[in-house]
Parts: sequence; C-alpha cells; structure tokens
Amino acid sequence: MKEKELMAAANENIMNTYKRFPVVITEGAGAKLWDINGREYLDFVAGIAVCSLGHSHPQVVVAVKEQLDKLTHVSNLYYTQPQTQLAELLVENSFADKVFFCNSGAEANEAAIKLARKYAHENMGTERFELITMKDSFHGRTIATITATGQEKFQFGFAPLPAGFTYVPFNDLKALENAISDKTCGVLLEPIQGEGGVNIPDENYLAEVRKICDRHGILLILDEVQTGIGRTGKLFAYEHSGIKPDIMTLAKALGNGLPVGAMLAKDKIAQAFVPGNHASTFGGNPLAMVAAIAVLRTILQENVLENCRKVGEYFLLQLKKLQQKYKIITEVRGRGLMLALKLDIEAADIVNECLHQGLLINSTGGKILRFVPPLIITTRDVDRAIEVLDRVMEGK
Ligand SMILES: Cc1ncc(COP(=O)(O)O)c(C=O)c1O
Repeated sequence: MKEKELMAAANENIMNTYKRFPVVITEGAGAKLWDINGREYLDFVAGIAVCSLGHSHPQVVVAVKEQLDKLTHVSNLYYTQPQTQLAELLVENSFADKVFFCNSGAEANEAAIKLARKYAHENMGTERFELITMKDSFHGRTIATITATGQEKFQFGFAPLPAGFTYVPFNDLKALENAISDKTCGVLLEPIQGEGGVNIPDENYLAEVRKICDRHGILLILDEVQTGIGRTGKLFAYEHSGIKPDIMTLAKALGNGLPVGAMLAKDKIAQAFVPGNHASTFGGNPLAMVAAIAVLRTILQENVLENCRKVGEYFLLQLKKLQQKYKIITEVRGRGLMLALKLDIEAADIVNECLHQGLLINSTGGKILRFVPPLIITTRDVDRAIEVLDRVMEGK
C-alpha cells in the first residue's frame, strides 16, 4: 500500500483516538527512523520515552528472536525462567522485594491502586481507602487511572468516576499535609511529571513527601512509568532524592518497545495480595520478559546511564543557549534526557515544522516542547536537533 492509501485505510478502520502525523514509519535503528518513502528522521520522541536503547537494539532483538523459537506464552498458571530472572533483576536493583508483571503503565498503576487499598483494608481499617494524587499528573487511561490523573481534560465525559481520589498541587508540601485525613491510605505521584510538562519539583520535595507519609503512617507510591529505567540519569528517579517508595510502577522503557509493565513493592505491603486478588493473562509473558532482561542488563552493564547524564547536561546547555536567542522560549527544564522548553506560543507548529525538517519531537500541554530521545544519543545528535530547532524558531 502507498502512503496516502495506507493513511486512508487506517483512518477508515482504526478508532479515532489519536491525532496522527501524516507519516508512515517503516523502520528504525538507534535514534533514526525511516518512513515509507525512505525519508530519514532523527527520533527525539523514542515512542514516547519507550525505546530508550534506540530502535532495533541488537541485544533486545536477539533475546526476543531466540525466545520466540522457544516459548511465547503459557499464562501465570506455571513458572517460567524469563519471568523469574526479570523479577530477580528488578528486586536486586531497586528498593523492592516483590514484583507484579503486567503490560502497560495504566495497568501497573491499577495494580498499585488495588494493592494500596488492599493493604490499607487489612492494616489501616476499612475506612482508609483514599489516595492523594497531584494536579497536572498523568497515570493512564483506564477509569481508575484517569481518576488518579489530576487533569479534568482526561476525565471529561467519563463520569461517574470511582471514589477515593483527592488532588493537591504538585510540589506543595503544605497542601499535601492539609489534604491528609482519616480516609487517606497513600500518596501517588510522579517524581517528575511527564505528560504534565516535565515539571521538576524542588530538590527536597520527595524526601519531605516521604517524611509526611511516614508521620501519618500512609503509603508512598511512585509512578516511574516515564521516569524509570534510566530516563533521568539514574535507574529510577527516586534515587536522586535519597528516599525509597513503598510501591513503584514501571512500563514504557522497561521493554524498549515490547509491551511490559511492572508494579514493585516492599514485602510487607506485597503480602496484602494473595492468589485471586489480582491477575493479568499476558502479564509476565516470556517475550516481554526477555526484552526487559536485555534492557536492564544493557543499562546496568554498559554506560547508558552515564551517557544519559552527560548528553542530557549538554542538551540542557544547548537549549539554554537557544533560550538566549529566542524570546518565545520562556523556560528550559530537564533532568537526564527528559527535557522541555516552555514557550509563549502554541508548540504544535514547531513540532510540525521540525517533522518536515526530519526531527521528531513532541509537545505536551499546548505550549511545552518535550524531548525524550533514546538514552544512547550522542552530542552530535543533539547538535543536529538544535540546528533544526534553531532554523524552525528563526521564523517565529
Ligand atoms: C507517568 C505515567 N504513568 C502512566 C502512564 C500510562 O502508561 P500506558 O500508556 O503504558 O498505559 C504514562 C503514559 O504516558 C505516564 O507517563
């Protein structure tokens, strides 16, 4: 099928939930993508912070191909080697004692919400079921996770929403403390808000949230679906703050493109789940597991985190230089390779023009340009992206 025909067929047969760019992507390698006409793009979206090791990473490809020949799926009625190995790797390299596997970020957050409620039900009394979440947060698209998400635009038209969620402004410790009641069982937040616009809290914020949770005997749940697996320059973003959560959710980069989510917890909390409480047919699927094992081994054994920190700092500096040149840039922010420009104009035009010039970037919240490239990019890739941004912004 040719480009135009394919787009028409897609629009005719796929539900209208995405506003797609008029490009048909056919191949990828590293930080590069190619479309159906053979045109090359520099990818600073990475499938929305998913392909952190770049497209078609050889270790991931080999692992999945080998597994495909052996075993694709058996359900969780039986033990498998890949699931056990990935659980061990995650436990060895995080605060957690136990892992639950699923297939997406929303599903990981659903599992976290259920575990928090079940733990509270058994240890805090049946009245404590409420989670405090943050305004401008994003936790997924299921009914419970749009309710946890502190943005009305994602909830509109889907009422009635489940009870048990209350919202406070991000980075506001007083508001959090004031919102805690005898119904509260925990706090759910992203260490850095992604969809909300790469909002980075004050240096001591997470540590203070931890103290507040401890003082009130409630759970701290971190949604690291976007920040986890190296995006901020550490394996998990909580490591920057010197604290540990009680529950954490992962997805996106964990499988480098294979769909996999995980919910991790301390043993004391995980014990609230017993057989029958929660499940997922595909969760822990061997193909997704071997991809995630390859991702974690690569990140831990090669210098991916160091590259992310180094190239991230360089990128931040270049974006700050761009800010000095263009008044439309009102703020530059980021950590590792999770960066953003706040503009005083709509970001969509810039995103479209960058696409025409061979650079894929993404916008969140109308006036924010977000950059979440693969963590393996070089300073030369950054230079190329900056050259395109510079050219596009010159006309604004
Ligand atoms: C922080 C965060 N949590 C949850 C999700 C939902 O993940 P998924 O789309 O895999 O359900 C996202 C997706 O953007 C996210 O950024």
